[in-house]
Amino acid sequence: MSEDILIKREGAVLEIRFNRPSKKNALTNAMYGSVADAIEAAQNDPDVRAVLISAEGDMFTAGNDLSDFAAIASGALGDAPRHVERFLRVIATAEKPLIAAVAGHGVGVGATMLLHCDIVVIAEDARLTTPFTSLGLVPEAASSLLLPALIGHTRAFMMLALGQPMSGKDAALAGLATQAVARAEVDARARQLAQECCARPAEAIRITKKLMRDVEAISARIQVEGSHFNERLKSPEARAAFAAFLQR
Ligand code: COA
Repeated sequence: MSEDILIKREGAVLEIRFNRPSKKNALTNAMYGSVADAIEAAQNDPDVRAVLISAEGDMFTAGNDLSDFAAIASGALGDAPRHVERFLRVIATAEKPLIAAVAGHGVGVGATMLLHCDIVVIAEDARLTTPFTSLGLVPEAASSLLLPALIGHTRAFMMLALGQPMSGKDAALAGLATQAVARAEVDARARQLAQECCARPAEAIRITKKLMRDVEAISARIQVEGSHFNERLKSPEARAAFAAFLQR
């Protein structure tokens, strides 16, 4: 278990909290592994009825740790397992409701993971950014499928291709978030909605979610995107972008 991930139970809600505020909650391989383990275990635990993802500090998450990206690009990670792949598979196939509490910015996977959540409570002043192309990368987490479906191709293109940020307020208007509230209220409102999920018949909730998500299509897109993404990670543009960030 990574010490940068906090796990706690409140009733039937399992809360997974990013806890690496000094690095803006950038997600390391170990953190992805711990989150994937926790969500996977929750699927088989009858006492857990909903999973809440939240964060310590002023940022939801700055996305994938760029040192890890640089290590993959240079081959330094060798054959070590890449837990991000399991993390994406687990959030895409989770049968129990996933709730996100986004107080602060969400960058990269910090924005795209929200597309797999069933309830997203976001701070009005939050910012969602997907700077994939600036890093020489391409969309992941089935965002190339889910984001256009949610907000329309042209607005999704501004985010995924041009890296244009979206405010928390606009994310709620666009349907990317359930509700935008004051930053101080995000955790409490998300926890309240998670408890509401738990108060309802678990099997009815499970089937409702299943009916609403085309898991097969989503999983297939994650795979296709993943093969482009892994290739792009090693591209000269990506390597230069990682080096520029790490040498700031
Ligand atoms: N990977 C690794 N470290 C990261 C990081 C990331 N994705 N994002 C932030 N950090 C680290 C910084 O290196 C810095 O570490 P240091 O204090 O040891 O130097 C610390 O977190 C604080 O970041 P800083 O850039 O000073 O904060 P900021 O508030 O000025 O800016 C961001 C925050 C998120 C806008 C900026 O850090 C950023 O652009 N990060 C990269 C985001 C990104 O491209 N993610 C990948 C998407 S695919």
